[in-house]
Order: sequence, then C-alpha cells, then structure tokens
Amino acid sequence: MSTEYDLNAIVPPYITDYLRSHISHDDAFLRGLEDYAAANDVPIIEPESARFLTVMCRIKKPKKILEVGTAIGYSALLMAKNTPKSCRITTLEYDEKMVRLARENIKSAGFSERIAVIEADAKDYLAYIDDESSFDMIFLDGPKAHYVNMLDECVRLLKKGGVLISDNILYKGMTADDNHVVRRKITIVKRLRAYIDALMAHKELQTAILPLGDGVTVSVKI
Ligand SMILES: C[S@@+](CC[C@H](N)C(=O)[O-])C[C@H]1O[C@@H](n2cnc3c(N)ncnc32)[C@H](O)[C@@H]1O
Repeated sequence: MSTEYDLNAIVPPYITDYLRSHISHDDAFLRGLEDYAAANDVPIIEPESARFLTVMCRIKKPKKILEVGTAIGYSALLMAKNTPKSCRITTLEYDEKMVRLARENIKSAGFSERIAVIEADAKDYLAYIDDESSFDMIFLDGPKAHYVNMLDECVRLLKKGGVLISDNILYKGMTADDNHVVRRKITIVKRLRAYIDALMAHKELQTAILPLGDGVTVSVKI
C-alpha cells in the first residue's frame, strides 16, 4: 500500500503513519492489487478505511452487498474475503476497462461465483434493481457528485438494520470548510454537503460521520 502522504489529507501524516503501521496484512493477492493501483493511479479505498470495512463485514456478516464503484475489484474482493461464503456481492462500474480488469482479478482470485460485476452507470442503474429492502450492506464509492441523487434508491434497497457506508465524504477537507475548496471541485463539494445534510436529516437512517481516511459515513436503516 502506498505510504506517500497527501498533504491535503484530513488526518495529519504522523497519525496516518501510526495507523498504517498497525494495519498491515498478508493477503498476497490483495497486496498485488494495491501495488497495481498505486502504480497505475487507480483510486482504491485507503488502508484505514479498508480495515474499517473489513471489521464492518465481520460484525454485520452480510449475505447480500451492493457496491457502487468497482474499479479493479479491490474492495469487492476485500468484502468477499471477510463475509460468509453465502454472501453475494453486486458491484457497479461504468468504465469498460475497469470492468474487464475487475472481472479478471475476481476470476483469478476464485470469487466469480460470489461477485457479479455489472457494467452500468450507477446513477441510472440503481432504479432498475427491484429487490427492495434486500441488501444487508451498501458500499458507496462511485461518483461523489451523485451520492445525493442515489440516496433514496440506496435506502429503498437496504434492509431494515442494513448498513450504508459512503467513502470520501470529507473530500480532503473541502466538504467541511470553504477555505479548503479548490475552485474546480466546487460542484462536487456542494453536492457532498447536500449528501451529508440529507443523510443526517433522513428519517429512516441514523448516521455517524467518521474522519477516517478521506471521510466515511456509516448509516443504519432504522
Ligand atoms: C474510488 S473508485 C472505486 C474503488 C473501489 N471501490 C475500491 O476501493 O477498490 C471509483 C470508481 O467508480 C467508478 N464510477 C464513477 N462514476 C460512476 C458511475 N456513475 N457509475 C458506475 N461507476 C462509476 C469509477 O470509474 C471508478 O472506477
């Protein structure tokens, strides 16, 4: 995993260094994907958030997971490896190259039976999933500017007691403070703020905002 520091990160580098020194793992396949992602600038979940997702999977023991944003299949495989064998994961990705790489990686890791990669634009596709109230967990890690538009569909698809985890919600601190906002990111930032407002006001959700990695929310459907 990359130990290069992002100077705009929301957590000071010395804390990140300390955290990462405690969360190494010995999964050679996932390590290979981490190296590929670092070498090819593919954004995958940060190590601290990956460990959080792992622990959530172990606590929740989900049977059915929906992921938005597959990339090379790293987080999908991480979840599959930390859930019961009966757990099925559907993951959505609209970039053709990523879909191909993810499918290859998932096949090489021996998880094709458990993880289905769907090539689709998640903004449109969620509305076509008709298994209402059936997902135990949803991991939102796709288009940040559209989280807010996808929220109602996510709530519709989640079971009561199901968990919605959303990544990058503090977006290098820009979501929290105008002084950190880079002009070309202003639209995404406004939409992420709207997403957090909607999560916190939602009658069917209870949400915690964690300053972990690039900011993670964890919501439970009540
Ligand atoms: C941060 S990466 C996902 C990383 C992955 N979850 C992991 O940690 O291994 C975000 C992915 O979402 C995909 N994406 C962005 N907008 C999308 C959309 N509207 N529908 C489907 N996928 C989208 C991007 O192509 C990218 O591969």
